[in-house]
Amino acid sequence: MKFAGHHILGISQFDRGHVDRIFEVADRMRPYARRERKTSVLEGAILGSMFFEPSTRTRISFGSAFNLLGGHVRETTGFESTAIAKGESLYDTARVLSGYSDAIVMRHPTEGSVSEFATASRVPVINGGDGANEHPSQALLDLFTIRSELADRGRGIDGLRIAMVGDLRFGRTVHSLSRLLTRFSNVRVSLVSPSELRMPEALVEEMRERGVDVVETDQLEVGIANVDIVYSTRIQEERFASQADADLYRGRFRLNQSIYTALCEPNTVIMHPLPRDSRVGAQELDEDLNDDPNLAIFRQSDNGVLVRMALFALILDVADQVDDYSKPVNWSTERRF
Ligand code: NCD
Repeated sequence: MKFAGHHILGISQFDRGHVDRIFEVADRMRPYARRERKTSVLEGAILGSMFFEPSTRTRISFGSAFNLLGGHVRETTGFESTAIAKGESLYDTARVLSGYSDAIVMRHPTEGSVSEFATASRVPVINGGDGANEHPSQALLDLFTIRSELADRGRGIDGLRIAMVGDLRFGRTVHSLSRLLTRFSNVRVSLVSPSELRMPEALVEEMRERGVDVVETDQLEVGIANVDIVYSTRIQEERFASQADADLYRGRFRLNQSIYTALCEPNTVIMHPLPRDSRVGAQELDEDLNDDPNLAIFRQSDNGVLVRMALFALILDVADQVDDYSKPVNWSTERRF
């Protein structure tokens, strides 16, 4: 696949060469994400952003990424503030919005909806999450984070041992990440979930067929021992029939400092796509881990900007021109930490 002009809808469209190229471009975006330099390579370009489900980091980091490349963002959130509330189809919305934009990012609660939208769009569309199906940019930023955390420990992605914990049935981030990990060798994935929230069987099969060693368990202590990464997830309560159904599972697997120290190997990296549910009774990733240097969750969310800048630069075919349009920034870029 060439990137220029292409949609980014799911992980199946990427092979390892694509991943390497995305990461190589993402690495080059650091001076811009750190506000050491600015670039106007996308000056005049417009990103149309439509988020029909709650979002903080995906929406803002996609928008920031486009802005950091010099482009503008036009966005709408929620069905009620769009013409979809008046009965407009995804087809018509896509035809219209793609007339106003150079690229579109969309999140929608229905599986397959972003692909349906993309078929009617005249510009590249990026899937910002379609129901419980996929969240490809999150998987790419997760893998980018895994690569960088393991590099600090003198390791590469091949040979990775990772535990995915929590709601593996509805969690689209773990679906996309699982698929992405099949591009690497000697990967062992330990899937830790209540039996009702197991990873979809087809995805487990796909991983096994592609050589991933998959172990499934409902015991946290079994699943998170002997891994390099613990990837915790939130119970996706919005995808359950009722709050009471979701409450059956909230708080089932809690990682806090004492459990981490007792069960995990030293220096196991702790990840989570965020948001973590910090309400009493949930707390799948306890705030008492905040000062643990192995907690990578905010490095992970920061990396989202790098990876999303890379995706825009590639699909709009400016990846090798970014530095030609760059200057130092004018403002103070001091950060407190
Ligand atoms: C995730 C999502 O929306 O799928 N959030 C995100 O984009 N970082 C995970 C979640 O909501 O639990």
